Amino acid sequence: MISQSKLTFVAIVLASSANLFFFTPALADDVNAAKGKAVYEGTCIYCHGDNGKGEIPGSPDFNKTDGVLSKTDEELIRNITEGFESPGADMPMPAKGGNPDLTDEDIANVLTFLKTKFVKEKSK
Ligand code: HEC
Repeated sequence: MISQSKLTFVAIVLASSANLFFFTPALADDVNAAKGKAVYEGTCIYCHGDNGKGEIPGSPDFNKTDGVLSKTDEELIRNITEGFESPGADMPMPAKGGNPDLTDEDIANVLTFLKTKFVKEKSK
């Protein structure tokens, strides 16, 4: 005969492993976004501003759902890493925001941060 407490134990184990399964990817995103926030505040904030609206002429507003952050991650990573200038722009985006110390991981994290802080869902 299986006791009530054993059943409760099994239910708790099942429930917590289900939580682990569902929440781990989200948690990893939170950790990466927190690391990306530090990168943003150290390098990007001077031009893009705390609110992502841009501090200098020509910097895009990150809050628009159909704005620059709706581009693919691949394209954004490339543009952040190598620098980027759209036709007729007031000013180019410097490679790595002008900070050559940034690693590929820093750039992936800062993009996660941009997407979690400014645009919660990709529009396409
Ligand atoms: C010296 C100012 C400056 C700094 C520092 C800077 N940016 Fe930019 N960024 C710009 C400007 C200006 C543009 C718009 C360029 C254009 O459209 O021609 C831009 C564009 C972008 C875009 C849009 C790219 C696209 O494909 O449309 C992203 C994303 C971006 N910046 C992220 C970052 C990140 C992340 C950092 C920090 C690592 C950073 N920027 C640091 C000035 C800056």
